[in-house]
Amino acid sequence: MTYRTQRVAYLFFATSLLLLSGQILYGFIMAFAHMGLDVLHDYIPFHVARATHTNLLIMWLLSGFMGATYFLIPEETQNEIYSEKLAVIQWASYVLVGVVAIVGFHFSWWEGRKFLEIPRPLDYLVVVNVLLFIFNIGMTMWRGKTRTATAGVLYAGLVAAALLYIPGMIHTDHQTHDSFWRWWVVHLWVEGVWELILGGLLSFLLLKLTGMDREIVEKWLYVIVGLTFMSGILGTGHHYYFIGTPSYWLWIGAIFSALEPLAFLAMAIYAVVLAKKGGRRHPNQSALLWTIGCAILSFVGAGFLGFAHTLPAVNRYTHGTLVTAMHGHLAFWGAYAMIVFAIISYAMPQLTGRKLYDSPIASLAFWASNIGMVSMTAALAVAGVTQVYLERKVGMDFLAVQKELEIHFLGMILAACLFTLGIGAFIYNFIRYGLPTNDRVGNVYGPEEPEKIA
Ligand code: HEM
Ligand code: HEM
Ligand SMILES: [Fe+2]
Repeated sequence: MTYRTQRVAYLFFATSLLLLSGQILYGFIMAFAHMGLDVLHDYIPFHVARATHTNLLIMWLLSGFMGATYFLIPEETQNEIYSEKLAVIQWASYVLVGVVAIVGFHFSWWEGRKFLEIPRPLDYLVVVNVLLFIFNIGMTMWRGKTRTATAGVLYAGLVAAALLYIPGMIHTDHQTHDSFWRWWVVHLWVEGVWELILGGLLSFLLLKLTGMDREIVEKWLYVIVGLTFMSGILGTGHHYYFIGTPSYWLWIGAIFSALEPLAFLAMAIYAVVLAKKGGRRHPNQSALLWTIGCAILSFVGAGFLGFAHTLPAVNRYTHGTLVTAMHGHLAFWGAYAMIVFAIISYAMPQLTGRKLYDSPIASLAFWASNIGMVSMTAALAVAGVTQVYLERKVGMDFLAVQKELEIHFLGMILAACLFTLGIGAFIYNFIRYGLPTNDRVGNVYGPEEPEKIA
């Protein structure tokens, strides 16, 4: 690496992979429960497993984003991190709050609001933690030698994500109001400001891996940011169809959310075109594979599968079924999990000075996890469509339908095993890299990688 303080990223990456392992464990618990094998019910009932699974997901992704930021900002600003000590304190307090939240869920200390289950006192600690992070990165940028659009978009996304945590803390005793504000967090995160974080990280990786000019790469970045805001903000309306909000949301939600896939399509074209045009064969092909894979699968999972149930005429049948879970899995995987894997793949050789990217293990990690996740999505799609048909068209009872769906979860579990094999391979490779070096070893990719800044 070029800047010694970049090594703090390692702590966040390792945490990220550890939390992901926990998420997978709880995924299996739920998949077995869906099959009728709810053997842990007395200790970990379904709602606890679900809250743990989804909160671990958010936590490991945020940890990955923070690690990515600590790695990337020194390079984009040509400056060491403002305070490495503060970064380590921020990491430790993040882990502490996360562990307390997860343990709390198992003792019914939670708010039963999907994705925002973390109890209020811990919310305040999350806010303090994120402020520390934003401050440390902000100071690094302020003191930096260069200001790039890539760093700016990433930072804007992080600050906006922190601000958007607040609507979820507004107190109300009305179900509709509560739901209304909950979507400001959930929707405006994944279909708004997290897309800026994704765009910033994609831009950084494409600059490094393809050797294209910064001017061209960053022009595209602005197009993506524009498309995201044009569609995503009012696209929130696709969650206001049936929660007690006025009926004009049916139109607003339908029109704007139907445009949302454009931002993801632009990202996919961006990555593929730049990789082709760049004409440079970067030595770390595995990082490039994760980067391009991310851009393409985020279009499939978020854009295509999101569109599939976004119009009110469809959503009135699919709302809250396994069709939603199908889309949730591939969208989160394609857009946000894969970008974290891409940056870890790119950064680890730089952090440790070891070059383990060109190995069969790295290929196994990519292909097994991706084929596994696409197959899990397919299993959920079949189960979801069957559920919609039996429950909402035929009118069968909810629990009777769940019984009919059990067999599909056998398929899901088989696919999940393949997925887990891929993740296992990735973690194995991560461990083989060892700890970051204490020396500045410069750029391990050498002259193969363009060094131009601004
Ligand atoms: C990376 C981006 C995205 C991610 C991570 C994502 C993830 C999710 C998740 C987890 C849910 C369930 C939320 C809950 O019930 O609390 C959801 C719901 C939904 N998403 Fe997405 N999504 C993304 C993009 C999109 C896009 C672009 C569209 C439309 C084109 C879309 C359409 C929908 C719809 C209509 C629902 C509501 C489903 C229901 O009524 O049950 N999503 N999404
Ligand atoms: C071994 C791997 C996994 C298994 C077996 C698994 C299984 C499940 C199950 C059974 C559910 C509950 C569906 C329901 O409510 O009935 C669920 C929810 C969810 N999982 Fe996973 N999962 C796995 C990995 C992942 C990964 C890697 C991600 C993200 C990248 C993810 C994202 C989600 C999301 C967002 C939800 C909530 C969906 C919704 O709101 O409807 N899961 N998972
Ligand atoms: Fe949404």
